[in-house]
Amino acid sequence: MELLIVGTGYVGLVTGACFAEVGHHVTCLDIDHEKITKLKQGMIPIYEPGLEALVKKHTLSGHLRFKTDYAEALTSAHLCFIAVPTPSLACGSCDMTFVEQAARQIGSHMTGDLILVNKSTVSVGAAKKIKAIVAEELKKRNVSHFFDVVSNPEFLKEGSAVFDCLHPDRIVIGANCAASANFLKAVYEPFGLSPEQIFVMDSASAEMTKYAANAMLATRISFMNEIASICKKVGADVNEVRKGIGSDPRIGSHFLNPGIGYGGSCFPKDVRALISMAQQLGVESTLLEAADAVNEKQKKWLAQQIAQYFSLRGGLKGKTVAIWGLSFKPNTDDMREAPSLTIIEGLLQQGANLRVFDPIAMPNAKKQLGERQGIFWCENEMEAASGADAIALLTEWNQFRLVNLKEIAKRMQGWALFDGRNQYRATDAHSDGFDYIPIGAPDQIKLS
Ligand SMILES: NC(=O)c1ccc[n+]([C@@H]2O[C@H](COP(=O)([O-])OP(=O)(O)OC[C@H]3O[C@@H](n4cnc5c(N)ncnc54)[C@H](O)[C@@H]3O)[C@@H](O)[C@H]2O)c1
Repeated sequence: MELLIVGTGYVGLVTGACFAEVGHHVTCLDIDHEKITKLKQGMIPIYEPGLEALVKKHTLSGHLRFKTDYAEALTSAHLCFIAVPTPSLACGSCDMTFVEQAARQIGSHMTGDLILVNKSTVSVGAAKKIKAIVAEELKKRNVSHFFDVVSNPEFLKEGSAVFDCLHPDRIVIGANCAASANFLKAVYEPFGLSPEQIFVMDSASAEMTKYAANAMLATRISFMNEIASICKKVGADVNEVRKGIGSDPRIGSHFLNPGIGYGGSCFPKDVRALISMAQQLGVESTLLEAADAVNEKQKKWLAQQIAQYFSLRGGLKGKTVAIWGLSFKPNTDDMREAPSLTIIEGLLQQGANLRVFDPIAMPNAKKQLGERQGIFWCENEMEAASGADAIALLTEWNQFRLVNLKEIAKRMQGWALFDGRNQYRATDAHSDGFDYIPIGAPDQIKLS
C-alpha cells in the first residue's frame, strides 16, 4: 500500500521505516528541509537502535522516500499518517498547532480519496477537529474527495522503538466507521498480530487510551519514588520491596524502578495535558497532579543529596562531580525534559564543577545546555571520573554497568558514587572504595 507519513521525527521516521520493512511503499514528509535533505543523503537525524540500517536498506530498495512537498507526496497516498509534535502550552494543555497545520496542508493538497490516521498524542476530540479542518480546506477548493480520520495512538518506546514498531503488543484503532478501521487493519496485517491484539473503538476512547497509558506509567514511577523516599528514611531497601511487590500478579514487575524522576518527550507533557483537560472539564485530577508534583520533587532530589553529602566535607562549591549519562533513558539521544538537566542546573547553582559524559546524547545536550561555565565535556566515563570528587550516575547505559569501579576509584580525588538508577550493588561499590548513595536504600558511607 502507498503510505504517507507527515512528520519525520522519532515516531514518523521509525514508523515509516518499519512499514517499509513489511512491504509498504512509504513517503516520509517533513517541513524541516535540512532534515529531509540529510535523510536523502543517508544521514539519520536521531539515534534509535536498528533505525539507520532499516532506513538505508529501504531507501536503496525504493520502499522509503523522503519529501517536503505536500502536493507531490499526496498524489499517490492511500493513507496519510500524522506524526507531528504536540508539545505543552504554558498552561500544560496540548498544543495542537502542528497537527492543525498538517491537517490544513493535507486538505489543501489531497487529490483523491484518503484515510488520515493520527498518531500524534492529542487532546480528546482531535479527530473531529482534524476532520473539520480538512473539510473546510476541501470546501475552499470546491472539491469533494472522500476522506475519514482515524485515531491510531503510538505506543513505541524510545530506545527500543524499531523493535516495538515491528513487534507491537497491541494496536489501538479509534474509528467511527468500520470500513476505515478495516483499511487501517490491512496496513498492520503484515505485522502478524492476533485479533485479540487489535482494539477498535471510537476515536475519543482511542485518544484517551494514549493519555491514560502514559499517565498510569508516570504514576507508577512517582509512586515508587515516593515509596523509595520512605524506604530510605526507615532503613528499608526499595530494591527488595520492588521484588516483593512485583511478584504479585495484580501489581506486576514492570515500571517499578525508582530513580531520578521521569522525563522525555511524552510522560511529563502528557500528564500535564491530561490534568489540564480534566481541569477544563471541571474534573478533579488529584492523583495526576500528585504524580506530577512528586516527579518535580524527585528531579531535584539527587542534587540535594550531593549537596548534603558535601556539606559535611567542606561544601559543594568547587567540588567536581562526574555526570554519567544525560539522556532521559538509555539507548536514545533524546534530551527533551531529561531529569539530568534539572540535576546539572542544581549542581551548577551550588558552585560544583561538572565533568559530563553520555555515549550518544552529548550533541543534543550541548544544544540544550549551551556553553555553560563549569561544564567540561568528556570523551568517556573514565575521563569524566578522573580527578572528580563524586560520580552521579543519571542514565543507566549498559556501558556504565560494565566499568571497573576499583580502577575508577584510583583516578578520583573523592569517592562518592550517587547511583540515580540503583544500577550497582551497594556491597560491591562500597568494597571497591566508594561511599555509595543509592535511591531508596541505606547509604554505605565509610567511617572517617
Ligand atoms: N517520541 C516518542 O517516544 C513518542 C511515542 C508515542 C507518541 N509520541 C507522540 O508522537 C508525536 C510526534 O512525536 P515525535 O517524538 O516523533 O516528535 P519529533 O519532534 O521527533 O518529530 C516531529 C516532526 O514533525 C515535523 N513537523 C512539524 N510540523 C509539521 C508539519 N506541519 N508538516 C510536516 N512535518 C511537521 C517536525 O519538523 C519534526 O521533524 C507527538 O504527539 C508525541 O507525543 C511520541
